[in-house]
Amino acid sequence: MFRIGTHQIDSRVILAPMAGVTDRPFRQLCRKLGAGLVVSEMVTSNASLWNSRKSRLRLDHAGEAEPISVQIAGGDPAMMADAARLNADNGAQIIDINMGCPAKKVCKKAAGSALLRDEPLVADILQAVVAATNLPVTLKIRTGWDRDNRNAVRVARMAEDIGIQALAVHGRTRADRYQGQAEYDTIAAVVDAVTIPVFANGDIDSPYKAQQVLDQTGAHAVMIGRAAQGRPWIFREIDHYLRFGRTVPEPSLTEVRDILSSHLRDLYGFYGDYLGPRIARKHLGWYLQTVPGSDPFRQAFNRMDNAQEQLDSVLKYFEQLIEQEDQAA
Ligand SMILES: Cc1cc2nc3c(=O)[nH]c(=O)nc-3n(C[C@H](O)[C@H](O)[C@H](O)COP(=O)(O)O)c2cc1C
Repeated sequence: MFRIGTHQIDSRVILAPMAGVTDRPFRQLCRKLGAGLVVSEMVTSNASLWNSRKSRLRLDHAGEAEPISVQIAGGDPAMMADAARLNADNGAQIIDINMGCPAKKVCKKAAGSALLRDEPLVADILQAVVAATNLPVTLKIRTGWDRDNRNAVRVARMAEDIGIQALAVHGRTRADRYQGQAEYDTIAAVVDAVTIPVFANGDIDSPYKAQQVLDQTGAHAVMIGRAAQGRPWIFREIDHYLRFGRTVPEPSLTEVRDILSSHLRDLYGFYGDYLGPRIARKHLGWYLQTVPGSDPFRQAFNRMDNAQEQLDSVLKYFEQLIEQEDQAA
C-alpha cells in the first residue's frame, strides 16, 4: 500500500487523531476493524506535565499494534524536539506533529494549526523535530490559515524538503474551524506538489466518499475522524470497498453488541472503575446515535456509575433490540 519510513501500511484508511476520543482502547478497536494506522492522542511537549494521570494514560501503548505513532503539539522548536525524544524513548515509532487542530494553545503559545501563519516557525519546528530523532516524522496540517491564505502547498513542499515522511491534510482552513464542507482541491494540489504519502482528511463518512476523495485528490489514504465515533467498523467498510469495489453489509445488532461490549470492557480495564464508566458514556452515546428510540436507555446508562451495571444494561438492551428485530422479520 504505502510506507512511512520502514513501516509498511496495509490499508488506505487511517484513524485521525482526536483528543479525548482516540485513546488506546479506541485505537486498538479501530486497528482490529481495518484501520491501517492510528495516531495516539496529543501529549503536550511540556514533559513536566507528564506525571499527570491523563498524560500517563495517553503515553500507555501496551499491546498496541505497530507502528506506534504519537502526536506531539507545541509552538517551541526545542520543546518539540524534547517531546519527540521522550516519546521515542517511550516506544513511539513514528512522531506526528500537530499543525491541524484549531483551538489548542500549549504553554500559552500558538500551537496546532495556528502555526501555519508563521512559516519560518513551522520550518524551525520541523527541522528541530526531524533532527531530534531517527524515527520517521509525519505532519498534520489544514489547508491554510484562512481562505485568503491557503498555504498548504508551500508548507507541504517545505515539509518534504526538511524530511517529513508523510502528510495528513484536513480540507479546511484554520479560520473555517469545523464549519462548511471540507474541500479537496487544495489536497489534490498538495499531492501534486510532493512525493511523500499524503492522507486526505475531512468529512469522509462512507466508502463512496472515501473513493471519491481518493479519485479527486490522488492521495495515498483517507483519514477518518468523527465518522468513526460509535462506528469503528467504518474502517472495514471503507477498506473493503477500496480493495474490491463492493460494500460489506452493515454489522448486525448482534455484532454491534459484541463490538460495543468489548469496547466497554476495554475502557473499564484501561481507565479503572471510577473513570471508566464516565468515559464509556460518550462512546455509548455515539454508538446509539443511529438507534431510533434509544434516548431513554442512554439517559439511564448515563446515570450509572458502576462498570458491571453499565455492561449488564447494554447487554440487556441489545437483547431486547435483537428480539424486536427477530419478531419484525
Ligand atoms: C474531538 C476532536 C478532537 C480532535 N483532536 C485533534 C488532535 O488532538 N490533533 C489533531 O491533529 N487533530 C485533532 N482533531 C481533528 C481531526 O483529526 C480531524 O482533522 C478533523 O476532525 C476532520 O476530520 P473528520 O471530518 O473526519 O472528523 C480533532 C477533532 C475532533 C472532532
